[in-house]
Amino acid sequence: MYNNDNERLIFWKQQNDDATGMMCNPDAPRLDYSDRTEIINALPDLKGKQILELAAGIGRFTTYFASVAEHVTAIDFVDKFIEKNKRECSNCFNTTHLVADVMDLNFENESFNFVFINWLFMYLMDDEIRILGERINQWLKPEGLFFFRESCVSSSNPNRTHASTQYRDPKFYIDLLKSNFILLSQGNVAIYERNYNNPNQCWWLYQKNINCNSERIPRPALGGITELARPVQSLLEGPQSGI
Ligand SMILES: C[S@@+](CC[C@H](N)C(=O)[O-])C[C@H]1O[C@@H](n2cnc3c(N)ncnc32)[C@H](O)[C@@H]1O
Repeated sequence: MYNNDNERLIFWKQQNDDATGMMCNPDAPRLDYSDRTEIINALPDLKGKQILELAAGIGRFTTYFASVAEHVTAIDFVDKFIEKNKRECSNCFNTTHLVADVMDLNFENESFNFVFINWLFMYLMDDEIRILGERINQWLKPEGLFFFRESCVSSSNPNRTHASTQYRDPKFYIDLLKSNFILLSQGNVAIYERNYNNPNQCWWLYQKNINCNSERIPRPALGGITELARPVQSLLEGPQSGI
């Protein structure tokens, strides 16, 4: 993992604002369309919904959301990605773009019908995922849905591994989120099986659990900076990451 928050930002700032940069994979030009199509096909009906997209990057999914949803809030901590995302959405009048670290976010409870993540948890520490999962639960409306996709077990292109990415067992995510969410469906992205014999590009669709007893966790002030101290990491890897 990263030695500090700045290292992960530095890593992502060095990536190109194109599909290859977003997918951290030189094969991105031939995989991108199928990858997005498979994920979009796994999504629920989003017509008229309020969507929060975390780690939205250059907008590989944001433009789709803007075409079906009532409103999309797209977040990423790299300004050049958000600038490109805004340009991609320039014909849409239902998007809000924010440059922010996902751990610094705060929204009113029950603001969104749907929260979407495509590759983010694998760059966060275990405790950050737990905290973010609890916040996502609170940000969702009572019937709200949460979709996320991560590289599990190995990198998406097993010929290219990335030292600072956590390729967790899928069970880790299922166990961590089970008190806050109810699992509706799960699957994997088949194009990685066909190309790399890799069945571990995993996605999950969850529903908010309105009966969960998550302890109240400190939250950043609305519109402000988080008051949560991050666990200190003292690991040796440099700012390398990937998918
Ligand atoms: C692998 S890319 C995926 C981008 C986009 N979801 C997609 O599928 O094209 C990961 C994205 O997460 C963003 N990211 C990583 N850690 C973040 C954090 N703590 N807060 C906000 N964005 C973050 C990076 O800047 C990058 O755009």
